Amino acid sequence: MSDLKAQVVERLRRVKGPDLEGNIVDLGLVSDVLIKDGRVYFSITVPAARAEELEPLRGAAEKVVKEIEGVAGVVAVLTAEAGPGQATRPAPAKPAGNGREHPRVAEARARGAAGDAAHRPAAQPGAAPVRQTQGVPGVKHIVAVASGKGGVGKSTVAVNLALGFQAIGLKTGIMDADIYGPSQPRLLGITGKPAQAEGKKLVPMEAYGLKSMSMGYMVDEGTPIVWRGPMVVGALNQMLREVLWGDLDVLVIDMPPGTGDVQLTIAQQVPLAGAVIVSTPQDLALIDARKGLAMFKKVSVPLLGIVENMSYFIAPDTGKRYDIFGHGGAKAEAEKLDVPFLGEVPLTIEVRETSDAGKPITATAPESPSAQVFREIAAKAWAELERAAGRGMKPPKLEVMHGGEALRVSFATRDEHELPAEFLRVLSPSAEVQGHSKEQRVTVGGKKNVKIRELRGVGNYAVRIVFDDGHDTGLFTWSYLHMLSLQKDKRWGEYLAELKTKGLSR
Ligand SMILES: Nc1ncnc2c1ncn2[C@@H]1O[C@H](COP(=O)(O)OP(=O)(O)OP(=O)(O)O)[C@@H](O)[C@H]1O
Ligand SMILES: [Mg+2]
Repeated sequence: MSDLKAQVVERLRRVKGPDLEGNIVDLGLVSDVLIKDGRVYFSITVPAARAEELEPLRGAAEKVVKEIEGVAGVVAVLTAEAGPGQATRPAPAKPAGNGREHPRVAEARARGAAGDAAHRPAAQPGAAPVRQTQGVPGVKHIVAVASGKGGVGKSTVAVNLALGFQAIGLKTGIMDADIYGPSQPRLLGITGKPAQAEGKKLVPMEAYGLKSMSMGYMVDEGTPIVWRGPMVVGALNQMLREVLWGDLDVLVIDMPPGTGDVQLTIAQQVPLAGAVIVSTPQDLALIDARKGLAMFKKVSVPLLGIVENMSYFIAPDTGKRYDIFGHGGAKAEAEKLDVPFLGEVPLTIEVRETSDAGKPITATAPESPSAQVFREIAAKAWAELERAAGRGMKPPKLEVMHGGEALRVSFATRDEHELPAEFLRVLSPSAEVQGHSKEQRVTVGGKKNVKIRELRGVGNYAVRIVFDDGHDTGLFTWSYLHMLSLQKDKRWGEYLAELKTKGLSR
């Protein structure tokens, strides 16, 4: 052990354990100490449910180490314990489950050497998983987008689904849980580093009105990232809880590919409201997708549904559709597994190009068929989320009134509202109207005489309103219509004020 490392360990002995007995070193909670260029990195294992409460412990550990001469910086992360069967304090090493794995902490302690533990499992195979449900303040629902295997377009779907949520009027963020291969910076075209606010919290990056956090913003491009398994969880917890997400209706998590221990740990420890599984139509991918489903089922995360990506090919020149992989596999599978089928995303050059150029299609080409698909997937996933949260809404009765001048909405709860066409048009939840942040948003003016031409039902969770000025991309979910009904005066007042400040008129 180097002198400095020995000093660090010695200093950490001054930090009392979670229950104020003993010290974190002798309790075996400090998993390992890595030192690089004078910077000290270590993690402290604590019970998942107490992570927040034990933040001062982490702070104290950082502080005592910072005081050592020659230490340029300290990063201490809290690592949540994998699950039951692991007591607050790690038991003496004994084979667990299949006899191959030892309790993680004891193992890390025994190993001692740094750097040999990349990709170390963070959860114990064989241990019955439990979910920790401590929420993230301000964030209503957290949704994981996962797949059984890599390269199925999960990140692309995650970004566009997030933008789809936004396009149906929801405040949305996206978190990249792919620590080894973050892709959100590329997909959203974001460069630079997040700013630090008071209390060391990070301000999330933003693009197209979407708040985003990724390890990709924290490290320089091209730097290989090697994290120790337990540290992955610590890093994810920090991204989740030490970032100023603000008020969000939904936070989408782009999961790392596969169904290994890191994924399982995330599924256990992140308070997920639901999971979306992305699959390609090939049977093999479906087998993998089933593994993804099984993983979330095991930890009782509601399955919001399956998205079939690269479902069919649309020729860019003729617009003709080709079912290269066959068709309907994922849908049939979803039915068999009794999981909702959320939709089919076509394989198009446009999706690939926009996604690789940081200009996701749902935000940059909201009129395109693919963007439409993503909005519908989002609306359906949202309906499933509300249902899983016990807030599902029955379809309201809709009637077009006065030759298209208004829509009467009668909710099953017996409240009835008449919403003028102009109001619905200018507050249409489509990307170009509501999806962007305030500064980027296009304020629609001059719609005083607009009329509703047609209503098109979308599943039993939303309606597409076609207006006589040609606008038809607004997907009104029941909850959005309900919100508009309840906040009619407020929203209308805000709209008029916005018109005024932008020098527009009705
Ligand atoms: N529907 C689609 N049409 C065309 N190209 C697509 C589509 N979906 C994804 N792609 C392309 O496929 C490639 C892989 O997509 P993506 O990075 O989203 O996959 P992933 O499942 O997140 O991969 P990983 O497992 O590495 O995280 C990207 O180049 C992306 O642009
Ligand atoms: Mg990805």
